[in-house]
Amino acid sequence: MCGIFGYIGTDNHAAQKTVNGLKDLEYRGYDSWGIAVRSPRAQELYSRKNVGKISGVAEKDFANIVGDMSIGHSRWATHGGVTKKNAHPHFNHDKTIAVVHNGIIENADVLRRRLSEGKRNLFVSETDTEVIPHLIDYHMKMGKSLEDAFVATCGDLKGRFAFVVMHTESDFLLAARSGSPLIIGKGEGEYFIASDIPAFLEYTQVVNYLDDGEYVKLNRTEARFRSFHTQKKIQKKDIPIVFNKEAASKGEWDHFMLKEIVEQKDSLARAINQDDKAIKKIAREIQKARGVFLSGCGTAGKVCMAAEYFFSVVAERHTNFAPSSEFPIYHHFLRPESLLVAVSQSGETADVLEAMKVAKRKKSKVLSLVNVSGSSVARASDYSLLINAGPEKAVASTKAATSQLALLLLIAYATAGKLKEGKELLIGLVGKINDQLNPKYLEYIKKVAEIIFRENDVYIIGKSANYPMALEAAIKIQEVSYIHAEGFAGGELKHGPIALVKKNTPCIALLANDETKDDMLSNVAELKARGAYIIGIAPEDHALFDKWISVPDVGAASPIANLIPIQILAYYLAVLRGNNPDMPRNLAKSVTVK
Ligand code: G6P
Repeated sequence: MCGIFGYIGTDNHAAQKTVNGLKDLEYRGYDSWGIAVRSPRAQELYSRKNVGKISGVAEKDFANIVGDMSIGHSRWATHGGVTKKNAHPHFNHDKTIAVVHNGIIENADVLRRRLSEGKRNLFVSETDTEVIPHLIDYHMKMGKSLEDAFVATCGDLKGRFAFVVMHTESDFLLAARSGSPLIIGKGEGEYFIASDIPAFLEYTQVVNYLDDGEYVKLNRTEARFRSFHTQKKIQKKDIPIVFNKEAASKGEWDHFMLKEIVEQKDSLARAINQDDKAIKKIAREIQKARGVFLSGCGTAGKVCMAAEYFFSVVAERHTNFAPSSEFPIYHHFLRPESLLVAVSQSGETADVLEAMKVAKRKKSKVLSLVNVSGSSVARASDYSLLINAGPEKAVASTKAATSQLALLLLIAYATAGKLKEGKELLIGLVGKINDQLNPKYLEYIKKVAEIIFRENDVYIIGKSANYPMALEAAIKIQEVSYIHAEGFAGGELKHGPIALVKKNTPCIALLANDETKDDMLSNVAELKARGAYIIGIAPEDHALFDKWISVPDVGAASPIANLIPIQILAYYLAVLRGNNPDMPRNLAKSVTVK
């Protein structure tokens, strides 16, 4: 979480460029924002910060700020509340050093105490970040150059971090990475540095990735990479980016969330368009592994849980799901022959990276499914597959989730030795989703949302792989509409949750046309008997439903088909309740802290 942007070049409107770049990173955090600019001959760095979203800030307001070097930040609060003082950049006492940071400095309290000895009111914020400029300042006062002080500071810090440093008297930017992403964009006589590529895509499409344990010194014409552990030089290859800025912009749509839901017409096809050889190789790894674990966070976690059913039902292969934050507890079961399948849209989620670290420590193999090529998860894996969903900007994951589901289902089929059958099923699904995702369908689901949007509680039930989809449906509704929503396994209702159901409580049932159907209909009848208002998401209508949302009959791919109308429903619930579905309160797209 948190977006970082930095610029050094010949354009004196670095401030405007930084504000513009931060707008593309806002999905990473939108509590508050701030920039610092180095103006020629100024003794101090210029800065402006505020609480609120950077999208509401006009770039023209920065037009008369002169300076060709700037850093900026869009914050998702961890240490310290959402206040102007806690917004980045943070400075040393003289305001000669500015720092923007993403991650968590775990030893910040110890460092704060040490730095504060004999000095009152040194710190002006409650953030962990503020120790960084003070540490650099301390090392410089001990006689070190800026670069040496920066390297020494990297050695002082514990935790996960990515930060960029600017100094009034130095004609370069310094940036280090340990766990949180930073990418360098190479322009003509200028360099950019950001947490994600779209931030500088309109200026350059040539990048270098900073890896863990590395730092970069950027001047106008050169990027010099070194290890901050050994200071050894590191050579980097320039990587061209094939990326369509259009795909990462909202275009005609009111919100990214709806755009990305509709894009599933294409993204699903891309997800399954994989190299057969690669899929067969992965299938062999799964077949021969002793212990296959599936892990991810949030929506990706629910996808993994559904995949546990896919492997069981399609391939009769036992796998184990654990949310990544819980995965380390399983370390006793890991051995060199085990395989961890890590699923992450961003490829930067701290808990997923931690789970991978645990697996690596036990010498287990790691396969990852990510949407961002070159991401930390992809780079730390033994095998990695791209789901190719295209940029996903809305915090609530939609097209990435269905792409992950489709690819995992394909792998389950390949594991069963039925890759061709799996492909045919999924190609059929893509065609049906294409027919279904039309304006009439959206309009119909909006009408359903209009019936229930004032309710306080919604319950969702499913069975087999549709049970994790009921959990995912609850996440979708919670995160964007703020309605209390909970998902259950249909059969579990009678063991407690049904006590919550009153007359007209909206209950959504996710049905598939398979052996689970009759049991699910019994569960629906139990709800109906308590007066629930039943919304059936199913291939066929049924007398028990008050409202029916139709989905195609697609066999084992039913969780994918059932999830799409839920995403649409959650979207309209958010809009009807006056929320911005793209930037839900308290959440961030990419959670790079544990
Ligand atoms: C955050 C997002 C979720 C996402 C989860 C995992 O919590 O708000 O939408 O599912 O992180 O993200 P990842 O990038 O690892 O899939």
